[in-house]
Amino acid sequence: MQIAVLTGAGISAESGLRTFRDSEDGLWEGYDIQDVATPDAWNRNPQLVLEFYNWRRAEARKAQPNKAHIRLAEAEEDHELYIITQNVDDLHERAGSSRVLHIHGELNMMCSEKNRQIRYPISGDIQLGQTAEDGAQLRPDIVWFGEAVPQIDAALDIVRSAEALIIIGTSLVVYPAAGLLNYLPATSAVYVLDPNIPEIARPIHAIHKKATEGIEELLSLI
Ligand code: OAD
Repeated sequence: MQIAVLTGAGISAESGLRTFRDSEDGLWEGYDIQDVATPDAWNRNPQLVLEFYNWRRAEARKAQPNKAHIRLAEAEEDHELYIITQNVDDLHERAGSSRVLHIHGELNMMCSEKNRQIRYPISGDIQLGQTAEDGAQLRPDIVWFGEAVPQIDAALDIVRSAEALIIIGTSLVVYPAAGLLNYLPATSAVYVLDPNIPEIARPIHAIHKKATEGIEELLSLI
């Protein structure tokens, strides 16, 4: 079966990476989005923005894929699975998934601040003064609030042709990712795995569990 999988921060929570909006330890609790995740923030204080993403990159590197990432990768043996992730970590890839679309960018990539097409893999930190081949400062290849989401058309194509959609660990409050659901064929089933199921305006199979606890049940339904 051709399956689209939309993942968010919740799938990496049990790998030790914080979600954004969970009340106790949400990542944004400690930060003002306007200070670290907008083009304005970058223009005002690039050093702070670089430190924030250098820290997140180091955290992501220490984390390991969990059972949910791994079982999704293994499910490629039975299904044509396309992962659309809002996550900037690489835990899906490290679990073995072969088709992963990062619609909000990747911590392990950097690009020229003047030309987003000039991209490089990154292994360490990005420093202020480090430049791309066009001479411009390097920045994280992350989609900030207020920026376009270049991969959204590719994500739409995946959802439009999916026979089922799996949604794991996303509050579905950030657009355009949250709107992807509207493009799923009416005949395709939706499976949602999350301890707090987000509001979705169509019938769904809801599994009110953490990702690692509910992944087996979810895959058995498909
Ligand atoms: P949120 O923090 O908004 O939502 C996390 C979701 O994961 C919630 O629905 C939680 O109930 C759920 N969750 C928590 N622990 C879980 C677990 N162990 N298993 C399964 N689900 C769990 O994160 P996102 O929806 O990913 O964008 O946030 C979307 C975007 O907002 C992010 O990509 C980021 C952020 O601002 C950018 O930075 C552009």
